[in-house]
Amino acid sequence: MNLNHLDQLTQWCSEDGIKTQAADRPFWNRLMAEAHTLHDLFFQIYGHQPNTETTYRAFIRGIAQAYSSRSKALKSRDAQKAIKDAWITDQNLVGMSLYVDRFGGDLKGLVKQLDYLEELGVNALHLLPVMKSPAEASDGGYAVSDYRSVDPRFGSNKDLADLQAELLKRGMYLMTDIVVNHTSDQHPWAIKAKEGDPFYQSFYYTYADRSIPDQMEATMPEVFPESAPGSFTFNSEMNAWVMTVFHHYQWDLNFSNPQVLNAMVEHILYYGNLGVDILRIDAPAFIWKQMGTTCQNLPQAHLLLQLIKSAVRVATPGMAILGEAILAPEQIMDFFGHGLMQGRECDLAYNAAQMALQWDALATGDTRNLWLNQAIISRKPLGTTWLNYTRCHDDIGFGFEDKYIEQAGFTPYLHRAFLKDYWSGQHPDSPAKGMLFGVNPKTNDARISGTLASLCGVEKALELDDTTALERAIARIALMQAQCLLLGGIPMLYYGDELGHINDYSFQDDPSKSYDNRWVHRPIISAEKRKKRADQASVEGRIFALHQKLIALRKAHDIFADTNNVQWWPTDHPSVIGMSRGSIHALFHYGGQSKTVTLSGRSIPQKTLDLWTGKTVNLSNEGQLTFAPYQFYVLQQGSSDRG
Ligand code: GLC
Repeated sequence: MNLNHLDQLTQWCSEDGIKTQAADRPFWNRLMAEAHTLHDLFFQIYGHQPNTETTYRAFIRGIAQAYSSRSKALKSRDAQKAIKDAWITDQNLVGMSLYVDRFGGDLKGLVKQLDYLEELGVNALHLLPVMKSPAEASDGGYAVSDYRSVDPRFGSNKDLADLQAELLKRGMYLMTDIVVNHTSDQHPWAIKAKEGDPFYQSFYYTYADRSIPDQMEATMPEVFPESAPGSFTFNSEMNAWVMTVFHHYQWDLNFSNPQVLNAMVEHILYYGNLGVDILRIDAPAFIWKQMGTTCQNLPQAHLLLQLIKSAVRVATPGMAILGEAILAPEQIMDFFGHGLMQGRECDLAYNAAQMALQWDALATGDTRNLWLNQAIISRKPLGTTWLNYTRCHDDIGFGFEDKYIEQAGFTPYLHRAFLKDYWSGQHPDSPAKGMLFGVNPKTNDARISGTLASLCGVEKALELDDTTALERAIARIALMQAQCLLLGGIPMLYYGDELGHINDYSFQDDPSKSYDNRWVHRPIISAEKRKKRADQASVEGRIFALHQKLIALRKAHDIFADTNNVQWWPTDHPSVIGMSRGSIHALFHYGGQSKTVTLSGRSIPQKTLDLWTGKTVNLSNEGQLTFAPYQFYVLQQGSSDRG
């Protein structure tokens, strides 16, 4: 890039109505700071194509126009967020991921539930997809047919704007999705492609015969092997094969076409202008395809994300970017960027490895695999953060590396087989009621569906009317959620879990859902269910209260803000793992038996306050501490006298 480029940018943006006057100075500063990145990344990806100057001009115009239509209110929120550096790492942020219709009826109904969420302590809402998608083929909203119109099932664009305004008023945050990898086959682009329009056909991967699809499928893993095997679907209207990595009705977009990037960036910035605080980029690992590869996590996918982040930083800087990359731990780290781009790709990533490792530890009663993986997970760049969770609307996959399973003393193949048996409830010792999802007989892979409560044992305990089993199930829930909430980053609860909702099998009778058992953990929340939280003796009341208390504990101590201050440490028994942040030492016992462990190597005083129970804990003279099954402590050094 040369000076010429800066002049050119200035000229282009002025043409788009942005003057160099004081009000727009922050924009110009950001543009100049990002100019090199924008140009360099765009030309790295598309420079070899004809007319790149023209598509680059259109790309910059998209940024300028988005900034021009950004509201004053959002511009001043951008400024506040910039002062409160790394606002995403604040311990006061606690999220919930929810389906608008299943949680609140519709967007208006959701506004009425904001008091409930605040009572719980939640102040960031992840709305699972709300834009238009065909009811019968929607993949839970992840098959978008219109990126800019709210689906009438949930309400109108005005209802979404009203919700956002109400959130802003209450100091709450909005998170939503952009599904970049694919559109619905009912999206206007796909419809025009089917009608034979070559411009829109080039938005997708279409092939006249099976020769390229066959070669590509040889190296592409299947995402939904049971319900949507293969990665291509024949479309009779075009008489061609279309790439459909997910379901047959989700057509993969071809990002090697810069028109696709430009169109998607405009949608992304449009969401920024709706007031979205955190944008969840759906399935970003898939956005670049190349023959002979798995077509996942390719270098160009990262260049595209860095370019998107750079555009967002200029036009809608208050919007953070979350990468939903559910991969092996090392690969997830790639989404924070490397080298010069470290910390300049996604602001947040799903801590999918941590999530799966907690389920691993809970099944085995052994935290060594969880501990060993921290060597990778804790390398996250300062200022970026994790989205931590125990459950979400998707399945649980055990995609962590074999080497640590081995180092922890297990045989990877047998270990994974055990996890599948355990969480699907087939293992004789399992308290869980889960379902195997995505079973692939070719690879023996499978993932797990089921709600937090059903996996932790609530459903079985209630069926058997077994009070001891119920106590244990609730202890497991508390342990899992405590570990997640005290990790730092943004904890994202999954709706229904705060009330201990068990599996909902009604999806089996609905042909638009029965092929996908992830619906087992996507319940409709009734008003009666929610009311039960007032009864402290009910399962709902107890589980709600424990969530409330954990959230309050996190918010009360700024040491839980994510400043990369977590130190993990093993104890002398594998079932117990320690996690220290400054003067707070949290200990988690993943085992189902009582256990006494020695806390060596940490200067924890003999008498220490447990912030969770509010009681003083006495270590033995030898520094030993006893744990009940699934018990955890949150010890605060130097506070026993207050206990
Ligand atoms: C993401 C979503 C998942 C969806 C997939 C395809 O992984 O979380 O629910 O099926 O993308 O869009």
